[in-house]
Parts: sequence; structure tokens; C-alpha cells
Amino acid sequence: MTASTLAQWMLQSNSTLILTGAGMSTESGIPDFRSRKGWWKNTDPRTVATVESLQQNYELFREFYQMRIQSLMDFEPHRGHEILANWEARGHLSLIATQNVDRFHQQAGNHAVAELHGNIVTIRCQSCGKPLPLGHFVDNAVCTYCKGKLRPNVVLFGETLPQEAWNRSLKEIQGADLVIVIGTSLEVYPVNQLPAMCKGRLVYINLDVAGNSRNFDLVIQGTAGEVLAEVDKYLQEPIVE
Ligand code: OAD
Repeated sequence: MTASTLAQWMLQSNSTLILTGAGMSTESGIPDFRSRKGWWKNTDPRTVATVESLQQNYELFREFYQMRIQSLMDFEPHRGHEILANWEARGHLSLIATQNVDRFHQQAGNHAVAELHGNIVTIRCQSCGKPLPLGHFVDNAVCTYCKGKLRPNVVLFGETLPQEAWNRSLKEIQGADLVIVIGTSLEVYPVNQLPAMCKGRLVYINLDVAGNSRNFDLVIQGTAGEVLAEVDKYLQEPIVE
């Protein structure tokens, strides 16, 4: 029961949703959060990823997101992202619900993407809410309209998720025949509640599967890029049994 099983389930499914986390982008070079080299191993999320950090520790907050925004320029979507874009084009998936803020799914060509944790490539003013160009944030500018603090449209701890992305993900997941969860530790609420809403088959693709595997119908341990390439191979040449 591995990649070939998943390919068969995909061919049988009328509605497949993919839920991704930071492990989807590590093969592009972007660190995840909780692995050995993850962001939260050296940086306490309370100091840079909370509403309090934005209000009380703005320079550190801004520096952290500027660094992450700048580093995106050095990286690009990898083969796994491209396979997912291809699956959407071939009608194999209905939605990618992602916790990732890098926009790599869209950059690879996916259109049906729900950004559950927002993104770090668009900017707004924390005070008046107006959108501003990314360059303003990178250049340490204040809001042109009200002189408020600028911030990326990322969801911080202590904030609610974008309602449209959440409702869309929930609706799709509840009606899905198949949900494939890729590259997430499932440690963060409320996204970690989503897989349990699925009434169909549930699959987990992750490097580290300890702790989560019992909740899934199929667990494939490995890197997203390699596993997706393997599944894609079977999808294109389904096995006759
Ligand atoms: P985590 O860092 O918590 O989990 C990433 C998971 O991906 C780990 O279980 C890794 O073992 C796995 N992984 C790493 N590289 C992989 C690869 N190439 N292929 C497959 N699996 C791989 O990241 P998330 O679960 O996405 O939120 O974290 C959720 C949220 O916590 C983030 O969106 C962020 C963070 O705090 C906010 O900042 C609000």
C-alpha cells in the first residue's frame, strides 16, 4: 500500500483535496518550522509571529519577515509543486488548502489555492488595513495613508484565519472523496482539525510520520517531491490488478 495505492484512489476519486504545510517547500530551500533546521528552533515564535510582537517588538517582527520575503527571491517551486499544478490541469484535484505563505503553489501554476495562513508577498497597513506595495515594507516605510505600521498579510498567532479560505477548505474537505495531507506536523490549530472533517479516504505524506499516522488510511513516509513523482508515474500508467 504505497504510491500505487494512492494513484488508484486518485483515479477513483471525484473530489480530491490536498492540504500542504512547510514540508512541501523545504525541497525548494525554504526551512520548515519545527524540524531540526526549522525557523522555530532558533527563533521563539512569540517574538516574531504574534500580534503582540507586531505591536511591541515591531523592528524584530519586521526584520524577520523582511528576511523571509528576501529569501523567497533565491528559491523557486520544485518538481513536487509542478506535479500538483499538473494534477489540477488534468482534473485530479479540486483544491490545495495550504498553510504555506510563499505562494509557490500559485507560482507553479495552481489556481485553486486557499491560503489558510495568508501570504508574505502582499502587504497591508496594520492600522487602516489599506494594501501597499511589497517594496514599501521591504524599505522600512510606514503607511502612506495613515503612517501606521506595515505588515505582510500573514496570519499571526492570536489572529483568526482568512474566513473565505477557511470556509472554502472546510466545504471542499467535507465533500471530498480523498484528502492528501503533505508536509505538515499538524501541530497548529485550527488547520490540524481539518483532516478529521474528511468523510472519505485520508492520506499522509511526510518525512516524519510518527505521532500522526494512526489517523490516516494510508501513510507514505518520504519527501514530498519524491513521493509525488512516484505517484504521478503510477497515475500516468495505472497498474492493472
Ligand atoms: P512544521 O515545521 O510544523 O512541519 C513540517 C513537517 O514537514 C514536519 O513534520 C517535517 O518532518 C515535514 N517535512 C519536512 N520536509 C519535508 C519534505 N521534503 N517532504 C515531506 N515532509 C517534509 O510546519 P507546518 O506544519 O507547516 O504558522 O507548520 C504549521 C504552521 O506553524 C505554519 O504555517 C506556521 C508555523 O508556526 C504560523 O506562522 C501562523
